Formats: sequence, structure tokens, C-alpha cells
Amino acid sequence: MSQDLAARAAELRAEIERHNRLYYVDNRPEISDQAFDALLRELIELEEAHPELRTPDSPTQRVGGEPLEGFEQVEHSPPMLSLDNTYSRDELVEWARRVARLVPDAQPSYVAELKIDGVSISLRYEDRVLVRAVTRGNGIVGDDVTANARTIRNLPLRLPQQAPATLELRGEIYMPRRVFAALNREREAAGLPLYANPRNTTAGTIRLLDSREVARRGLKVSIYQSVTELAARHSDNLERVQQLGLPVAAHPERCADVEAVLAYVERWREARHRLDFDTDGVVVKVDDLDLERRLGSTAKAPRWAVAYKYAAEQAQTVVKGISVQVGRTGVLTPVAELEPVLLAGTTVRRATLHNYEDLARKDVRVGDTVVLEKGGDVIPKVVEVVLEKRPPDSRPFKPPSRCPVCGDPVERFPGEVAVRCINPACPAIVRESIHHFVSKNAMNIEGLGDKLIDQLLREGKIEDFTSLYELTKEDLVDLERWGEKSAENLLAEIEKSKRERTLAHLLFALGIRFVGERVAKILAEHFGTIDALIAAGREDLEAIPEIGPKVAASILTYFAHPKSRDRIAKLRAHGVNMEQPRPAGGRRPLEGKTVVLTGALSRPRREIKESLEALGARVAGSVSAKTDLLVAGDNAGSKLAKARDLGIEIIDEAGLESLLAQESTSEPAEPG
Ligand code: IVH
Repeated sequence: MSQDLAARAAELRAEIERHNRLYYVDNRPEISDQAFDALLRELIELEEAHPELRTPDSPTQRVGGEPLEGFEQVEHSPPMLSLDNTYSRDELVEWARRVARLVPDAQPSYVAELKIDGVSISLRYEDRVLVRAVTRGNGIVGDDVTANARTIRNLPLRLPQQAPATLELRGEIYMPRRVFAALNREREAAGLPLYANPRNTTAGTIRLLDSREVARRGLKVSIYQSVTELAARHSDNLERVQQLGLPVAAHPERCADVEAVLAYVERWREARHRLDFDTDGVVVKVDDLDLERRLGSTAKAPRWAVAYKYAAEQAQTVVKGISVQVGRTGVLTPVAELEPVLLAGTTVRRATLHNYEDLARKDVRVGDTVVLEKGGDVIPKVVEVVLEKRPPDSRPFKPPSRCPVCGDPVERFPGEVAVRCINPACPAIVRESIHHFVSKNAMNIEGLGDKLIDQLLREGKIEDFTSLYELTKEDLVDLERWGEKSAENLLAEIEKSKRERTLAHLLFALGIRFVGERVAKILAEHFGTIDALIAAGREDLEAIPEIGPKVAASILTYFAHPKSRDRIAKLRAHGVNMEQPRPAGGRRPLEGKTVVLTGALSRPRREIKESLEALGARVAGSVSAKTDLLVAGDNAGSKLAKARDLGIEIIDEAGLESLLAQESTSEPAEPG
């Protein structure tokens, strides 16, 4: 029996890895996400019931595990060197000449690759299983981040049979641009400071102690070198590596001579901006590994490779003024108002100065000529001041001690660089919070754009987001150019939002710090009603997986504020929905019950699990004395037998469906 289970586990692992590869490396999935999920669930359950079957290469490790105390230090062999940089065609040609001089008898050919702007990682497979991932560190020793690396979806945890047993690789971990943009959108919605760029975010992410969080961040890896020699040439090494299912994203290309390298550099100068990762140059390597060995390395960098760095597109212009933007959460952001200038195809009039600390460090002053740069990010940044062009009478910029919009004193919280206005009635905060309240993923009130919000505020027709629900047709028709029809349409939209938005949408819409869409949904599903959430104490909040002390504190502070309570009372009076719909109409008949699923079920497990959880059940992976109910599908095996032994209630799939159906037609519960 246990041999059967071991065989099944191995089979599942191989299947899951194969589908992972089809999905992430080959980009041609063969099965649906649900079918994939079912395979993964089966393996998770099997391993939960039989922990001895768990292996380090199991795809279940990709979800991350218990947080670590710290990272172990591991020595690199050979050391992880860096690269010498070149910044022009001439320097690149000069490098090639030097190489030729050092190996006069040979005619070196090259490989050109994109230089991915991420963080380097050393990877080791033993018996074809990924056993170790170590950051570069100081090049000699780095941090063992294996648990984190295992969560990277395009990194195989096990290599196919034809791979050498031991394989040592080097590669770059990066955060795809799209993932980075989504992460920042999420942070913005939660009122968190934005991350600067994908590279720094990657560096921070790979060193998180909580691998579950890493798993959520969507990192990727690309291999750029095999330390284990698989062939006589670097290019063949990479080809082998790719055949083994490892990702090589840097578009390596053989180049017979330096002319071909220069052509590669030009070809990618613009094209690289269309890739889903940041690149900061091209790496050129001597292809022949024998020649590599002969060329050797200096203490810092190999002689057989060099980086060509693309210059970021830059322009110079004059700072006409420094204005301040006050965001929804009250953060004050200094913005440089610029003499318009053309940069990388667009006219730039403003550039963010990030925060006052950054501004002070760069010492940007009104009247200064500054260098602007457009890197991978869309927003241009001020790189530096051209001091030679500074007007003699310029003065350092003084960060405001009062909010430029409402005049209240600003605060700087300990440990934060952001300066904030904390007056909840500050017009800028009110405006931004209304804008957020009506946005698509919040209350989704269409037709309430920025201009209209400004106008309504200016004319005193609204004070904050609660007063949107007090708007009348007359209020709107009063506005210039507003006809009855458009007024009716907007009122209908506002009305609709009361009924059609859930508690999760409302919680997100309130704009509580650290409560983004995801946290809002977790809270809504956990508490069901806003009153239950308001009544929750710190322990109740922190008992929810995924809610940490910081988020809990922010929620408590928010609801403790009389202003917040007042707003909620108003929204309630206007009939805004404050409940999270549940299949059971608000009841949790399975509250506190532990349910186990086993055997083949006709719906994806995740779906069934969600329905059960919505009724209050906890869905566990294995049967024990604590199990209350076993749902047995076809071909149920050991779990069914065990449940019978323990006298646990057992139902089949039909029983489950009727349970779910019956509960979802029952009467809605009284709120609270
Ligand atoms: S080869 C001996 N190839 O750039 C060093 N490096 O500035 C061999 N990088 O630490 C490095 N893409 O993290 C190489 N295609 C590529 C690369 C690459 C990015 C990074 C790598 C290295 C850094 C050096």
C-alpha cells in the first residue's frame, strides 16, 4: 500500500513538473488550470497524510513554508564575479582586441546575451533535484535562499533523467514588469509607498524570510551560465540547459566577430523595451570554454566576458517650480514642474521627486537645470542637478511643515520617509478618497470622474464619499451643462452601488491603510458583516492567517476614529450593503467543523473547498479524530477506511451537493 502511495506521489510530482514546464517554459499548456490544481491538491493531501513521502523537489514546496529565522551563509565555488562594463562601441571593440592579444593563436567567437536587470543566483542540482540556491552576497559567500527559490514557478525542482546528476548553474532572478506593475497597483490601493523598480523589489523579495510571501510575488529566473561543463562551448551549454527545461530568457546569440556583437547591441537597443523584463545592457562572452580558461579572471571580473551598458535616455531641462501632491493617504509627494522637454519620444512636463529625503539628497532647487532619465519605468526621474548651471541666487528647497492644501501641520511617522498630512478633512485627501471610493474595484460608480468630483466639492454639493448618497437630481442639474438624463444616469449608478457591491468592495473603498483588495476580501469573508469586523479585537484580527500586526493595528485605528464611525453610520443609513454574500445567505452552518475531501470529485477541489469554507468549515488534508465529516468521491482509499474506523460521518458527492444546495437556499440570517 505505502509503496503504491509512494509511486503515486512520484507520478504526481512528475506530471505536475511536466505541466509546469509546458506552462512556464514552453508556453503551451496541455491542461486547464483546474485540472492542474486537482493534481496539485491530490499531492498536497497525499503528503499531508504521509509526510514521509514529502521530498525537497516536490512541487508542493512552491507554495512556501514556515518563515525562517535567518539565512545560512554558503560559500560559492567558484566565486561569483562581477563584470567589467563598457559604455561605447569603441570600448567594446577595444575589449575584443585585448582578448585577441591574450590568445594570439586563436580566433575567438562570441556569444551576445541580454543583461537582465535582476539579482544573480547560484543554483545547484544534486541527483537532479534542486538542493541549493544562494544569492551572490559579496561574491565569496551568499545567503542560502533555497526555500524562496523553490517558489519560483519557472525553475524546475527536478531535472529530467537525461540531465547530469550534479549541475551547478548561475542565473538571474527577476520580477517581470507586469508583475511589478500589478504589485505597485496593489500597494497604491492599500496606501503603501510604491516600490522603486523591479530590480530592487526582486532583491528585497528573494531575501524575505517568509517564503509564502515570496511565492505570491511572481519572480522568475533565467539561466546565463552553466558552471558544470556540458559541452565545449558556452552557447552549447546554454542550449543543453534549455533542453533540460531550464529557462534561458536572455536571447543568447552566437557572434562570429565583434561586428556581429555590435549588430546585436543595435538590434536590441530599442527592442529590449518591449520585453517583459528590465535589461540594462548586453553581456558578451567568449564562446569557447577552453579559451575562457586560458583568459581567466582578475580578482573582480572574468577577462572572457564584458558588459555593454545601454545609456538610459536622458535630457536636460529647467525646474520651474516644485509642487506638492497630497495623496489619498495624506502622503506628500514633491513634484518637479519642468520646462517641457522631449525625452524618449514623449514630452515631459513633470517628474516625481519621490519624497523629501530624496529631494534633499539630490538638492534640487527651483531654477536648477536637471538631468532627466527614462529608465525602465514609465515615469521619468530627476537623476541629478547640473551644478554648473545653478543660478547664483538659488535656495535649498524647504520641505513644508504644513500641508500645502489644508494648512494643517504635517507628520512623519517613525521609520518612514514619507511626510503626511493627517487631517482627515484635508480637501486633497477627501478628493482622492472619493476618487478611490468610486473606482472600479471599489464601489464602481461609473460617470464620476475627477473633474466632476472637483466640481461637486467646489460647489459644496458633497463633503466626502458618504454624501454622494445624498445627491439629488436638482444638485446635479444645477451644475453647468448637466441635463436631466445624465443626472438620472449618475443617480442610478450611485443607487446601484448600494446594492450590488459587497462588503469586500466597501472595505476596500473606505481606504483603510494597508487594506488593499486582497485583505479586504479576506476580512469580508471572515467576518461576514461590517459590525462583526468593527467588534473584532486585535487577537481576533491577528488570528487570521495573512493578517499581521501592522494591518491589524491599522484596522483598529481606523474603526476607533469617531469620523470613521460616523461615515459608516451614514453609509448604513443610506442603505449601502455592509454584508458579504455567502452561499448560505449569511449563515455559517459548518462553523467550527473540520471536513476532509477524498477520492475523485467532479468539481475542482479548490471550488468545493471555497464553498465549504464559506459555510464556516475548515477543510483539512487528512482524517483524524478531529474530523467531523468526510466527503468521499469515487475510488476513495485509505482516508475512507480510516474515517470508517473512527466512526466519522461520511457523505458522497451527491450528499455534498445537496448539503451545499440546501444551505444556500436557507433563510438569510439577521445581521451581526
Ligand atoms: S555572465 C562572471 N550573463 O550581471 C560573471 N551575467 O554585472 C558572469 N547578469 O552578476 C556573469 N544577465 O547577475 C552574465 N546574460 C548574463 C547576465 C548577467 C545579467 C548579471 C549577473 C552578474 C551581473 C554582472
